[in-house]
Amino acid sequence: MDIIGNGSVVIREFNKADIEKLAAYANNRKISVNLRDAFPHPYTVDDAKSFIDMVDKQLPKTFFAIEYNGEYVGNISLSIGSDVYRKGAELGYFIAEPFWGKGIATSAIGLITEYAFNRFDIIRIHAGVFEFNRASQRVLKKCGFVKEGVFKKSVIKEGKIYDEIRYAKTI
Ligand SMILES: CC(C)(COP(=O)(O)OP(=O)(O)OC[C@H]1O[C@@H](n2cnc3c(N)ncnc32)[C@H](O)[C@@H]1OP(=O)(O)O)[C@@H](O)C(=O)NCCC(=O)NCCS
Repeated sequence: MDIIGNGSVVIREFNKADIEKLAAYANNRKISVNLRDAFPHPYTVDDAKSFIDMVDKQLPKTFFAIEYNGEYVGNISLSIGSDVYRKGAELGYFIAEPFWGKGIATSAIGLITEYAFNRFDIIRIHAGVFEFNRASQRVLKKCGFVKEGVFKKSVIKEGKIYDEIRYAKTI
C-alpha cells in the first residue's frame, strides 16, 4: 500500500520503528476497555513486536498505522468477512490518548473506508461499539456510518455485561 491521504493525517504500513510508540500508547486502559480482549492489557513491547511481526506477514495487509503530522499516533484495521459475510469487513481503530479530539479518527476512518471499497471486493464496512463509548459512536456518525441496531448484552468486558451498538456503511 502507498501512503493514503495527503493532509495532516495519513495511513501507511507499519514498520519496526513503530514498536516503542505502539507499546507506550497502547498500554492504556482508556484504550483497551473499548476493544476486544485480544488487545492485551497491560500492553508490552513484546506484544507490539508480535503484532508488527504478524502484520508483516499479512498479504494483503489490512492493519495500518495512522500518522499525524508525520508521527505515529494509532492503528486502524479491517477484518474481511468470510463465507456469506465475505462482501463485508469489520473496522477497528484506536488513537493514542495525547492526540484525542483533533479529528484524527474521523480523517483516518474516511481514508480507510475509501481505500477499502476500492481495494477489496466488499460493499459493506461495519463497526461494533460498546455502549459506553460515546466518542467512537460520534466518530462513526461523523463518517457517515448508520446505526443499525443494538446487540443486547452481547459483550462481557472486565467482568461486566454491555450492549454492543452496530454501525455500518454500505455502497
Ligand atoms: C474513539 C477514538 C478513536 C476517537 O478518536 P479521536 O481522534 O479523538 O476522534 P475525533 O477527534 O475524530 O472525533 C471525536 C468526536 O467524539 C466526540 N467525543 C469525545 N468524547 C465524547 C464523549 N464522551 N461523548 C460524546 N462525544 C464525545 C468529540 O467531541 C468529537 O466529536 P465532534 O467533532 O463533533 O466534537 C479515541 O477516543 C480512541 O482511540 N478511543 C479508545 C479506542 C476506541 O474506542 N476504539 C474504537 C472502538 S469501537
